Amino acid sequence: MTAHRVDVPLGERAYSVHIGPGVRQRLPEVVERLGARRVAIVSARPPDAVPDPGVPALRTRANDGEQAKTLATVEGLCREFAAFGLTRADAVVSCGGGTTTDVVGLAAALYHRGLPVVHLPTSLLAQVDASVGGKTAVNLPAGKNLVGAYWQPAEVLCDTDFLATLPEPEWTNGYGEIARAHFIGTGDLRGRAVPDQIAASVALKAAIVAEDERDAGRRHLLNYGHTLGHAIELATGFRRRHGEAVAVGTVFAGRLARALGRITGERALEHTEVVRHYGLPDTLPAGVDTDELISLMRSDKKATGGGLAFVLDGPAGPELVRDVDPATVAAVLDAMPSAVLTA
Ligand code: GLY
Repeated sequence: MTAHRVDVPLGERAYSVHIGPGVRQRLPEVVERLGARRVAIVSARPPDAVPDPGVPALRTRANDGEQAKTLATVEGLCREFAAFGLTRADAVVSCGGGTTTDVVGLAAALYHRGLPVVHLPTSLLAQVDASVGGKTAVNLPAGKNLVGAYWQPAEVLCDTDFLATLPEPEWTNGYGEIARAHFIGTGDLRGRAVPDQIAASVALKAAIVAEDERDAGRRHLLNYGHTLGHAIELATGFRRRHGEAVAVGTVFAGRLARALGRITGERALEHTEVVRHYGLPDTLPAGVDTDELISLMRSDKKATGGGLAFVLDGPAGPELVRDVDPATVAAVLDAMPSAVLTA
């Protein structure tokens, strides 16, 4: 199978994303192109997951998961880089899920005020979304991703062989983002091979990021389904995984757009069909309260001045819609099917 290549056209920070089986073997050629004398490889996978980079390397362990996304982890990595003697003539390589590419990306952005970083994302979520676009961040007790930087990678190698051992919940996580891509520009990816689905999602993201790297406008589209999705994650204490929550948020976005007269009933139904096709949930978790969800959605970063803002489909395609009537939002939430409460 041939690999896909998607270019992210960002001028002097332009880079390519390679998608397909075995593409991690391109690492030495990428390191050579960067002219790096040495590299620090930070990996949440077994040591043999990352090929020999062709230059002297520090190999250090990372842990996937939100718990490890802290400033303390970033400091620990930077201390290891310093002890190894990493300089601005060198580079960093990350290998792992989206939390690893986030935290290692931030360490690369900060160490010596910025070293090139090459991402080898290993989860579907990281391959379709997190590793591309330059958002890096860690969490604070006050919230997720509160400390971060835009730091574009020098190259991304999405080796689909990594997915062979991906646990089922991780597939669901990634498919939440692929399902939402259906409604913001990729069109229908159902029935396509996984590398094609990843490549189409990455191509969409590359085009959007090239237009709005700093999330001031069009990049909001990538948050289709995420306003309710983030609220569900918070309301359930993250028992609903990101992809599942985004899937429910996508169904809700279709229903809300319909209630506001922006799309047909048929298009709203397509949201449920697509989400179900990917094996994702389309029901609100049992026991979540409409008022709590609305309150959480008022804190969404797209909302300004306490109003409710959603990316919604419409006659001119998806767009950010601000100041949506809370009563309409409540009515649509109340009409959503709810998962059965189990003991
Ligand atoms: N994951 C959304 C973004 O990168 O903007």
